[in-house]
Amino acid sequence: MEKLLLRTLKGESTSRPPVWLMRQAGRILPQYRALRSSLSGFKELVETPELAAEVTLQPVDELGVDAAIIFSDILVIPEALGLPYQMIKGKGPYFPRVIQSLEDVKQLNAHPDHVVEQLHYVSEALKLVKMRLSPEKTLIGFGGAPWTLLAYMIEGQGSKTFSKARKFLIQEEKAAHLLLEKITAATISYFDAQVSAGAEVIQLFDSWAGLLSPGLYKKFGLPYIHEILDSVEVPTIFFGKGAFYALEEMKVLPTQALGLDWNMDPSYVRQILGNHSVVQGNMDPAQLYGSPEEIARLTKEMIDQFGGHQIVNLGHGVYPDTPLAGVRAFVNAAQAYRYDR
Ligand code: CP3
Repeated sequence: MEKLLLRTLKGESTSRPPVWLMRQAGRILPQYRALRSSLSGFKELVETPELAAEVTLQPVDELGVDAAIIFSDILVIPEALGLPYQMIKGKGPYFPRVIQSLEDVKQLNAHPDHVVEQLHYVSEALKLVKMRLSPEKTLIGFGGAPWTLLAYMIEGQGSKTFSKARKFLIQEEKAAHLLLEKITAATISYFDAQVSAGAEVIQLFDSWAGLLSPGLYKKFGLPYIHEILDSVEVPTIFFGKGAFYALEEMKVLPTQALGLDWNMDPSYVRQILGNHSVVQGNMDPAQLYGSPEEIARLTKEMIDQFGGHQIVNLGHGVYPDTPLAGVRAFVNAAQAYRYDR
């Protein structure tokens, strides 16, 4: 029997929805925290295939989720292009050098051989996971969408508004498009390598889609996303966080499923997308701080509301201090669900 997640992505009806969580591999698990604290930092974990593979499998073993997502970060693409990142404890990502001009963009190396060689460690980790993952579980590869990566490459760190990055779109339009083209080209080669190494599904994260206006998203977001999704040879999931304003446009993207954040109401989404398109999401991650009984009730209610063709997930990554009991209640409720047909 084919895997539950792959069947759902094909649009088949299944007896229950598959479930996994964005950011499931990481700080919610004591095993992760123990391993992480024995190392020099986040990058050592990401760049050592044996360790990345181990951490990727931890949530599958511990929680029984239906998919493993490879342990890495979206920021490996900027680094492969020539902008190294650091992960600063308690602060998050930081780029010592940022993009400021067209000249800076021209320096970036998006040659496919270069990108794939720089990110060889991700392919190695995928191969190790693939060998060890049980056959009913699906292996997910991922990357960041061009706008979200541009935002970090201009800003150099997280930001509430990413206003420097948005200023760059307005004032340096030509450089912005060249940068988005380079990120797109690098991402296409990277996804191709991930699929060759065993990724069965690719998720594209556009974490900062919600910061753009509909007009800017049409110009600087969607065309590049379209090009990337079109090139991937396995099923894809596109997650545009905050992109409720572009549901109509996302509906026509060449992807098998749309990830939804928790601001989107299931019945509204079904009105726009129809009953048969595959959706992923979208429980509020904060709900997992609630009681296990309440989490089970809300999970069932959400699955009822979407009425099928759903990959159960949160509306964004799981928060690091989420109690494991809450995560388990969520996963177990999804796996206990039965569609009545
Ligand atoms: O389990 C998984 O989902 C796989 C691992 C994964 C990580 N990052 C590991 C990580 C995934 C899918 C990502 C994607 C990612 N990284 C996104 C897109 C998804 C989203 O949440 O919107 C973004 C925007 C980033 C950039 C990033 N990486 C930030 C902003 C931070 C700091 C904030 C934080 O969560 O700490 C990171 C660090 C990071 N990436 C950690 C992990 C496990 C924590 C670092 C640590 O353990 O020290």
